[in-house]
Amino acid sequence: MAINHPSARSENDSWDIVSSVGYTALGVASARALQSRRAQPLALDPFAEAFVKAAGHPETDAQLANAGDEADWDERTALWADFFGSRTRYFDEYFAASATPQVVILASGLDARAYRIPWAKGVVLFEVDQPEVLRFKGEVIGKLGAQPLVERHEVAADLRDDWPVALKAAGFDPAKPTAWLAEGLLIYLPGAAQDALFEQINALSAPGSHIGAENGFRPGDVGRIREAAAKGLSLGAEDSAFDVTSLWYDDPRELPERWLAERGWDVAPVNRAELAASQGRPFPDRFAELWRSSGYFTAERR
Ligand SMILES: C[S@@+](CC[C@H](N)C(=O)[O-])C[C@H]1O[C@@H](n2cnc3c(N)ncnc32)[C@H](O)[C@@H]1O
Repeated sequence: MAINHPSARSENDSWDIVSSVGYTALGVASARALQSRRAQPLALDPFAEAFVKAAGHPETDAQLANAGDEADWDERTALWADFFGSRTRYFDEYFAASATPQVVILASGLDARAYRIPWAKGVVLFEVDQPEVLRFKGEVIGKLGAQPLVERHEVAADLRDDWPVALKAAGFDPAKPTAWLAEGLLIYLPGAAQDALFEQINALSAPGSHIGAENGFRPGDVGRIREAAAKGLSLGAEDSAFDVTSLWYDDPRELPERWLAERGWDVAPVNRAELAASQGRPFPDRFAELWRSSGYFTAERR
């Protein structure tokens, strides 16, 4: 599936699980499936492999088939699995620590946290994504007969639109503290849509709410990463026909950590290299340098 530069995006584009931005959710599921094969996984996702098999995309199928067991992995495969394993674990721990009665997973993709991590009694969880992505996930989960470990609601909406209307219609209560998650989302949003997203989250967050997010890029980062990818220095499959960088935006936008801090949120950022080190996993200097201005943060509203 070749996607041409400079951008494969348009204003109201939509997708399913094997196209455009939808396929990135499948790619992450494939990485989580690999991570789950590790003897000591950073996160165990028993649903990830089933998502990949059900989608039947040649690249992700080949990725899992060719990787084999952990003992056979080359450095590239291990780094790919750990890049997403590290992120998954970080946000699993974020949810365990935030302990709010309400949870909103924005751009949930094939995130199976509703089915795989423990939740306190009475928690209500909302997953927001495009309709075809939610439909695919629901079909696979349905065939597996898995039950959510939490009260789960799907919200089919576009995060560039007025998604809070759909969220509230699904039962979201702005008076309750919420733990929000934006994992692997911001770089797929134009700057204005990202800024609007944080305005909306801020407006819907009662005191005691939390945010966990993978922050986006700074202007110029996408070009640097694209250049490195062209030289084979990217994470992920070397011979992939899928050019993820053509789906990213790096137009100007607020720095979410600063914007939230100015509005009374206590923000705690971490960069990818520090996080990997704290998890006992390598993150080579060449990647630390390449991804230097992006990472993750959590925030709590006082
Ligand atoms: C890289 S995947 C991440 C999925 C999931 N958060 C995870 O980490 O496994 C990106 C996800 O963002 C969703 N997404 C991106 N832009 C969106 C938009 N404007 N509206 C709704 N969903 C969007 C895609 O459908 C996809 O599921």
